[in-house]
Amino acid sequence: MSEAPFDAFRYAHEHRREVAWLSQNTNHLVPPEIVRDALAEAVEERRYEGYPYAPGTPELRELVLRDLGFAADHGLLVAAGGTEALYMLTRALLQAGDEVIASDPSYLIIHRFIELSGARTRNLDIYQPPYRLTSERVREAITPKTRMILLIDPLNPLGSGYPQEEVRAIAEIAHDHHLLLVNDVTYRDFADSPTLASTFAPEETITVWSVSKNCGLAGLRLGGLAAPPALLPKIARFNTNDLGVNILAQIAATAALATKSRWFPEVRRQTRENQGRIRDVVSRVPGTFLPVFPSQANMFAIDLTKTEVSPEAVQKELLLRHGVFVRAGNYLSPKFGSRFVRVSFSNPPEDIDRFVAAFPIAVDALRARAPAA
Ligand SMILES: Cc1ncc(COP(=O)(O)O)c(C=O)c1O
Repeated sequence: MSEAPFDAFRYAHEHRREVAWLSQNTNHLVPPEIVRDALAEAVEERRYEGYPYAPGTPELRELVLRDLGFAADHGLLVAAGGTEALYMLTRALLQAGDEVIASDPSYLIIHRFIELSGARTRNLDIYQPPYRLTSERVREAITPKTRMILLIDPLNPLGSGYPQEEVRAIAEIAHDHHLLLVNDVTYRDFADSPTLASTFAPEETITVWSVSKNCGLAGLRLGGLAAPPALLPKIARFNTNDLGVNILAQIAATAALATKSRWFPEVRRQTRENQGRIRDVVSRVPGTFLPVFPSQANMFAIDLTKTEVSPEAVQKELLLRHGVFVRAGNYLSPKFGSRFVRVSFSNPPEDIDRFVAAFPIAVDALRARAPAA
């Protein structure tokens, strides 16, 4: 009988109490009492017994819109995560034969959704400076079939952020060519000066938001989208949440968003300090480098090409021998996935200590074990 392939996620979940989780850009720095107290009260009141108000609680809707800087009456859809919102919008707005301008690397789940609708992505290679799309390349990639541009800002997995002028230029292309612009702003709170594309192309932009990363609520599954009046009803036809979205998730997100301005600066400071420490260790491991630094998100890629060890081997070695969970690049890039691992770092300093200690040892051990060329 052949051996089952190693399932890193199964292993990591089974050992979750011992694992430093640097693999999913999750945020482990939000003061826990904020969510704990809100959930304790909701559980005490047995809020889970009834269906929630289907559009989302008015408190949550107001906070999300305010947080993004939209007017209180802006169109908003609350879903079970940004992921679900992305599924709905691709389903609703794309047809067979359409093309979507996107990137490689990217957050490939969105590409999969695009393909499910019968459309295809035109992936622009961005594993080279400036490690993001540029308006020139987007313009050149437009064909008569182009229907949408995917602008993930900051970008998972590289951590690159878009300067305001580039957001403006891409938004203007969308406007001038009557293209839809999906602006996924899941990581915006980690950026120095994030810009919403809807500022420049309000009629074309669908803004995808999430509380998974900024509020540290990935396990509760809550996010959604904001869209102009001409698009929201079309997307909402594909909303399966007729009975609303998990009420406990909404209550936790409300508590977190209402207090975010108090605690997020410290999350950001620690996240930046952590990435600096990771940069220092990477600079001491021959053959490795960071394509993007500083990251405008809570993750970046570590390039391993010159080490001649594979990202999968590094992922497995770090997890099994050091209890440190990072993500191999093939999850994020068809073309460049064999070159990097992605590491996230909105974690307590102890998790970063473990990575810093383990990474040089893991790379050395794998090199020593590699057959001589
Ligand atoms: C760019 C991007 N969009 C959306 C998501 C998913 O967000 P959610 O947890 O709200 O589904 C992720 C998760 O990693 C992401 O990286």
